[in-house]
Amino acid sequence: MATEVSGPAKSTELWTRRHLLDLEHLEPWEIEAILDTASAFREVSERSRKKVPALQGKVVVNLFFEPSTRTRTSFSLAAKRLSADTVDFTVSSSSMAKGETFIDTAKNIEAMGVDIMVVRHQTPGTPHILARKLQCSVINAGDGGHEHPTQALLDVFTIREVKGRIRGLTVGLIGDIAHSRVARSNIWALKKLGAHVIVCGPPTLIPRSITKLDVEIAYSLDEILPRCDVLNVLRIQFERQRGGLFPSIQEYFALYGVTEERLRRAKDDVLLLAPGPINRGIELTPGVADGEHSAVLRQVTNGLAVRMAVLYLVSGGQPRSAAE
Ligand code: NCD
Repeated sequence: MATEVSGPAKSTELWTRRHLLDLEHLEPWEIEAILDTASAFREVSERSRKKVPALQGKVVVNLFFEPSTRTRTSFSLAAKRLSADTVDFTVSSSSMAKGETFIDTAKNIEAMGVDIMVVRHQTPGTPHILARKLQCSVINAGDGGHEHPTQALLDVFTIREVKGRIRGLTVGLIGDIAHSRVARSNIWALKKLGAHVIVCGPPTLIPRSITKLDVEIAYSLDEILPRCDVLNVLRIQFERQRGGLFPSIQEYFALYGVTEERLRRAKDDVLLLAPGPINRGIELTPGVADGEHSAVLRQVTNGLAVRMAVLYLVSGGQPRSAAE
């Protein structure tokens, strides 16, 4: 890639989307365009001066109504690496505590000249509403149990980087499928790019409606383990559950915990992903989280490049490839 991200694009397809609200409605080429553009930006993060002028003069606001460590920091840094001005908005320090409505708050923030709003909210569909009500670009950073597009994009980016392809791979999504926006976005991205997806967990954590998404359903991790090229281990979303969905954490760990012993029965080159935060000793052991198969920290590094790509594309940039 050239040192500056500017000039004509190589892609023959024209990127026209001003928002990234979900992966359900993206075309496969659009997902690939984001991944290719992210590959180009990956190199920027490896320089000693980690900045390009692509979003100079633009303003990016993080509007987060739910806790976040990785996603918010990642969007902030991604915007800064593109030379945008950034503001982090937290709900507790806002006028919403004084009774202002969500839309009024968002419109007031936008009135300060915001170009891109990155929103995380506990209610599914919030970014979609904002996209209708505001003039600026809107990026979904997680809407309740619905979607988390940039997490899934960084997951498939990491799979493609390590395995060299997505098509034909078997990917197991393990654990709390019912409450996981990461699972939903992963399913859309992986299916559109030609992977076989198995969702695996206790029956109470797998919604029946998931069959509509053309995925294989499994209740035994030990049975599917030898077939998986990738395991994406999801966090039990205790904050979204009403309780009683499995007998105990010990029992969950015995059946679905990813342990060193279990990994010995997986493919030699199985790739282990986890969106984080990880609960060591519940979804996976510390040895597995830090072990040779794990790409957990690589995912975080890649997340920055993916978010740079998304910010760049929604603000009018055209797809890039790493070779440029
Ligand atoms: C995920 C989220 O918030 O949905 N985490 C993240 O974005 N890094 C997954 C999770 O909370 O388990």
